[in-house]
Order: sequence, then structure tokens, then C-alpha cells
Amino acid sequence: MVTEIEQLKQQLQKQEKLASLGMLSAGIAHEIQNPLNFVINFSKMSNKLLDDLTDIVEDNADRLPEADREDLSDIVADLKENMTQIMESGERAVSIIQGILLVSRGKENEFVPSDVCHIVSEYVRLSYHAMRANHQGFNVTIHEQYQEGLPLMMVIPQDLSRAVLNVMNNACYAVWNKAQTAGDDYQPTIEVTVSSMPLDPCPSLLISIADNGEGMTDEVKQRLFENFFTTKPIGQGTGLGMSITRDIIENKHGGKVSFTSTEGQGTTFTFTIPIKK
Ligand SMILES: Nc1ncnc2c1ncn2[C@@H]1O[C@H](COP(=O)(O)OP(=O)(O)OP(=O)(O)O)[C@@H](O)[C@H]1O
Ligand SMILES: [Mg+2]
Repeated sequence: MVTEIEQLKQQLQKQEKLASLGMLSAGIAHEIQNPLNFVINFSKMSNKLLDDLTDIVEDNADRLPEADREDLSDIVADLKENMTQIMESGERAVSIIQGILLVSRGKENEFVPSDVCHIVSEYVRLSYHAMRANHQGFNVTIHEQYQEGLPLMMVIPQDLSRAVLNVMNNACYAVWNKAQTAGDDYQPTIEVTVSSMPLDPCPSLLISIADNGEGMTDEVKQRLFENFFTTKPIGQGTGLGMSITRDIIENKHGGKVSFTSTEGQGTTFTFTIPIKK
């Protein structure tokens, strides 16, 4: 009893830490957005200035020696390429940050029109990089399939992203754990799919995450959604991920979490969420 209480205390402390970490990262994301906008705008401006410079050089071409003219145009071309690289990397960083902000924006439990594919892809990436940072030698091939032209959908973005993160973390862990004992020809793979189903029984959004990891035994399948049920070593899992996920998808979004799993072969989780008008 005493050790159980002690364990629960530790788990709660870990959750609290995670929550404050979430707020902190939202704050950091927000602060980084401004300087990033400077990076993008100034590199765009510099690109335009380089065009002006090229014009001036061309107008005065006959006053420059041939060799200098060539050097100058090579340098300008290189500078333009560098500027484009800076701009594109800046835009990529902004899109990551917007993914994080999206999740902290909006009041708790508030449904907002959201780009579900964007949310899923950012959190798939986040989970992958977190796993790589925490588990030496971790790698996995991720295939992502996002249905084109999906309209914005009414979801609670910070909750949906947490659900995706939970399932994705589990998938990463399952392939990593299997890789510890599997042979060299084992290729850890995760497939992520976002699509919509027009009817039957009602218009729905489908998000599925399939791994070819360790799979689950019958006991794990039965207890998966229990609070604090975990098969991970102490300190690695709280056993709350799937119960939180089910609460988010089923109670908050009126959807369904389903899964299939074969021991030693892999697991597929699917969220089916009715599309709200
Ligand atoms: N994709 C999966 N493949 C194999 N087992 C899984 C998978 N997803 C979940 N499980 C099993 O279900 C258990 C419960 O998962 P859950 O996410 O609720 O907790 P956890 O991952 O152990 O801890 P955390 O609260 O940190 O997520 C896991 O410990 C694992 O045994
Ligand atoms: Mg988990």
C-alpha cells in the first residue's frame, strides 16, 4: 500500500512536471516567433536588394573588367541561394512553432476549426524526435498518408494532439523495444494515415497509427485502457497515456478508439471521430 502510494505520488509529480513543461514550451514558441519573422522578412528583403544590385551592375557592365563582372554575378547568385535557404528554413521553423502554439491556443475543451493533417504531422515528428533524443540508436521509417483537400474540422486541438502524441509514443516504444531483440533484418516501421469517411454510419475523420513493433499479449489488450497500467520499466511509463487518449477521443470528441494487435507482429490504433458541423 505504502509503496503504491509512493509510486502514485511520483507519477503525479511527473505529470505536473510535464504540464509545466508544456506551458513553458508554448511560451518559448511564442517568443521565438518574432525573431523568426525578422529572419524571414530580412532575407526576403535582402533577396530583393540583390536583384537591385544585379540591375545596377548590368547597367554599368561596360565599366567593369570581364573577370570582375563574372565574379560579381557568381557571388550574387550564391548570395541569393543562401538567402533562399535562410528563408525556407525560417518558414519551416515557423510551421513547427505554429503547431505547438495551435495546441496551447484556444481555451480548454474548446472546439476550433483545425487542420487535422497539420496537427498530426507535427506531433508525429515531435514524438519521433523526442524518442530519438531519449533512446540511443532509435530509428524508424515513418510513412505518412494525408488525404488531400480535407477541410478544417471542429476538434479540440490541444487534446487531439495529445492523443496523437500518446499513441505515437507507444508505437515508437513498441518498435524500439522489439528492435532490442529482433535480428538485423528487422525494419521498424510506423504508418500514419489521416482520411475522412463520407458516410456509414456518419461522416467521420479517421486517424490511424500502425506499428510493426512488439504487439500485445491478451492480458495487455484487456488492461490497456486502465489508469496506471503499464508494462514499461519504472520511470519510463505512467500508464496513463491510453486512458487519457480514450477520454479525449470518446468522451470529449464523441468518437471511438479501436485497435488490433498481434503479439510479436505489431499494433494498429484507429481514432474514428464524427465530423461536427
Ligand atoms: N503500440 C503498442 N504496442 C505494444 N504495446 C502497447 C502499444 N500501445 C500501448 N501498449 C501497451 O499498453 C500499455 C499502456 O499504454 P499507456 O500509453 O496507457 O501507458 P504507457 O505507455 O505504459 O505509459 P505513459 O503513460 O507514459 O504513456 C503499455 O505499457 C504497453 O504495454
Ligand atoms: Mg504511452
